[in-house]
Amino acid sequence: MAAFTAPKGVPEYYPPDSSAFLAVREALAAPARRAGYGYIELPVFEETGLFVRGVGESTDVVRKEMYTFEDRGGRSLTLRPEGTAGVVRATIEHGLDRGQLPVKLWYAGPFFRAERPQHGRYRQLQQVGVEAIGLDDPALDAEVVALADEGYRSLGLSSYRLLLTSLGDAQCRPAYRELLVEFLRRLDLDEDTRARAQVNPLRVLDDKRPELQAQLGAAPLVVDHLCPSCKEHYDDVRRHLSALGVQWEEAPRLVRGLDYYTRTTFEFVHDGLGAQSGIGGGGRYDGLMGLLGGQPLSGIGFGLGTDRTLLACQAEELTVGDSARCDVYLVPLGATAKDRLVALSGELRRAGVRVDVAYGERAMKGAMKGADRSGATYAIVLGDRDLDAGEAQLKDLRSHEQTAVPLDDLLSTLKGKLL
Ligand code: HAM
Repeated sequence: MAAFTAPKGVPEYYPPDSSAFLAVREALAAPARRAGYGYIELPVFEETGLFVRGVGESTDVVRKEMYTFEDRGGRSLTLRPEGTAGVVRATIEHGLDRGQLPVKLWYAGPFFRAERPQHGRYRQLQQVGVEAIGLDDPALDAEVVALADEGYRSLGLSSYRLLLTSLGDAQCRPAYRELLVEFLRRLDLDEDTRARAQVNPLRVLDDKRPELQAQLGAAPLVVDHLCPSCKEHYDDVRRHLSALGVQWEEAPRLVRGLDYYTRTTFEFVHDGLGAQSGIGGGGRYDGLMGLLGGQPLSGIGFGLGTDRTLLACQAEELTVGDSARCDVYLVPLGATAKDRLVALSGELRRAGVRVDVAYGERAMKGAMKGADRSGATYAIVLGDRDLDAGEAQLKDLRSHEQTAVPLDDLLSTLKGKLL
């Protein structure tokens, strides 16, 4: 019978490398925790309509990439392709916006997009995200961007860039859109692109085909057509970013794959990842609360790709996480020794030391191999002769030094060395 395999395009993380995945997720979330964001655990599936309305009908995500299914009650559900729509839905449903604003939330977990799998592009992708809902203070935009930057920096990453722009708002975008549509109408476009220009002209700017790019050189840019309040907002964001020590590149042609963005919009790209270079992105979505039936409150957030950030760390040859499974490996040689060391394992774990035991009736050689593989710093070997002498052998697995320690002192000796 053929063995089962994981679904196509789904990365798995298992020891010893999974510790790096956990460390990346932790590093990306830590700055948000230090800035007053509370954790939200979101459903992995939602009503399909939430994403259709929230993410936007014209987006690739909604048109081509959703995992949609009918449940047994005939409801259309979709595996979440992103987190913002769910956070906004939960904020409205639970009245989180009735307290002090902004509502600051962070989340982490898997998202699902039926994309064509390739290196760094998965069908189950992991993100760490934040959303700050209820204020359009430009200092909050700068905070959100700085939190992402801090997450990457804390991992030691350096070959990444922040691309930043403003997409304007409901005041200035419609007029700009008209200008762009008019510009695109005068170009020699194929039928598909012409159709796209009707539905979402901004996305045409992002088309990577050289023959199209050559025609787009003189296209009007939204940053040149911002209304005074959007312009002031964007200037303030940049001033606060400078104060926070964050560097960016102006990216007036930046187009994001989701429709809800307004004003500040950004993407972090890593130069060592090839085509799938986006390690995180986000921006303002000042119309989304209203669109999903809530109060007309603004919002801003990001989603950082945990998988791609891990790939970026590998590309920069950074060591992240601690692949050791334990600090101490206990090797009992005989039944009495096992009783003694099993009891010690409990005491050490209660004290906060990570401990594993050579279970099974293993001979010394096999057990010591297990000790090496575990990544432990110390092994405790206890044989009959040691028991008679009332001591155990403490081996330093790095220096290979060995010392005899009285059995009654083992707990305090190890705590002294490790805690
Ligand atoms: P997004 O740009 O679609 O934004 O995704 C955020 C990040 O998730 C990307 O920059 C990338 O690192 C990662 N990612 C996306 N798709 C894949 C994939 N197929 N394989 C691997 N990694 C992927 C959002 O999802 C928005 N909800 C972010 C946001 C929050 N905007 C405002 N608030």
